[in-house]
Amino acid sequence: MTSTPPLPRITSDHMDSILAGTRMRRNRRTDWSRRLVRENVLTVDDLIWPIFLTDGTNARQPVASMPGVFRLSVDEAVREANRAAELGIPALALFPYTDPDLRDETGSEALNPENLTCRALQAIKAEGLNLGLMTDVALDPYTSHGHDGLMEGETILNDETVDQLCRQALVQADAGSDVIAPSDMMDGRIAAIRQSLDLHGHRDVQIMAYAAKYASAFYGPFRDAVGSSGTLKGDKRTYQMDPANTDEALRETELDITEGADMVMVKPGMPYLDVVRRIRDEFQVPTYAYQVSGEYAMIKAASANGWLDGDRAMLESLLAFKRAGADGILTYFAPMVASFLAGDK
Ligand code: PBG
Repeated sequence: MTSTPPLPRITSDHMDSILAGTRMRRNRRTDWSRRLVRENVLTVDDLIWPIFLTDGTNARQPVASMPGVFRLSVDEAVREANRAAELGIPALALFPYTDPDLRDETGSEALNPENLTCRALQAIKAEGLNLGLMTDVALDPYTSHGHDGLMEGETILNDETVDQLCRQALVQADAGSDVIAPSDMMDGRIAAIRQSLDLHGHRDVQIMAYAAKYASAFYGPFRDAVGSSGTLKGDKRTYQMDPANTDEALRETELDITEGADMVMVKPGMPYLDVVRRIRDEFQVPTYAYQVSGEYAMIKAASANGWLDGDRAMLESLLAFKRAGADGILTYFAPMVASFLAGDK
């Protein structure tokens, strides 16, 4: 039997010299090595493309505060849907600019089965594309006061609004919506919408809940695009969340999951990455973030001024969502980033 020599004890001097030899930059030295150690990747499968709709044909109206974004007539939306499918973008989210003459106190146009959103749904569905269509449930593009719900005096009525939203969701599901996305922040609307869908033969229609949606200054350009910035009276702080809170975001998300949401979303995006991370760590459901209009506008404006490299800022901002744990991102950059990732840019 041979006896092994005793192992040398590691002294603090040894440790110091090992640490002194630590070189974090070794892994970053070459492109292949950076790719090998990369923790997060943005792919086309992460993208949901929000588009704006308008009446007419062959219409592409630029949205001034969102360079590169247009309000599209239904025929143009069909063209863009085909482009999205060719690029491999999984889904579109549709938002209508409603003719001001059709806006009223109760947002009744939201329930019209022939409204712009429904016509676009039917026209795009007829193309038979491998492309999901998501629709916004909320009354603000249809109300004369620009709020997401029904009003009595200064108050946004909760339960009366929820009834209206259930009808709106059914109209959209009947027209072919694949994913109902309630962005209104009324209490109890996910359970009510799920039940209405199920009772009316739409068991397979998914729900993506705007679970943690904040009363944010970053929605300004969107309100220009759907024409609600001029109409909006007051603000949305009695239903959208206070930007100061994150525990509350977890409660909101838990409720929406319990009520039947298939997917949850945080909105806005980049200023709220901590919320995305907390939700991702807490719940086991597909989690999305909305890079909203103001975030898009900031990057576009800075790059138009030559203050930022627009492509790099776009890619870095979207990768940040992946790092925070998002499964996907709603972004107006979707077609640009998809072309970029496909290498034909
Ligand atoms: C309204 C709605 C808003 C957005 C999506 N749905 C704006 C708001 O709450 O006033 C904002 C999206 C964006 O800014 O890109 N239901």
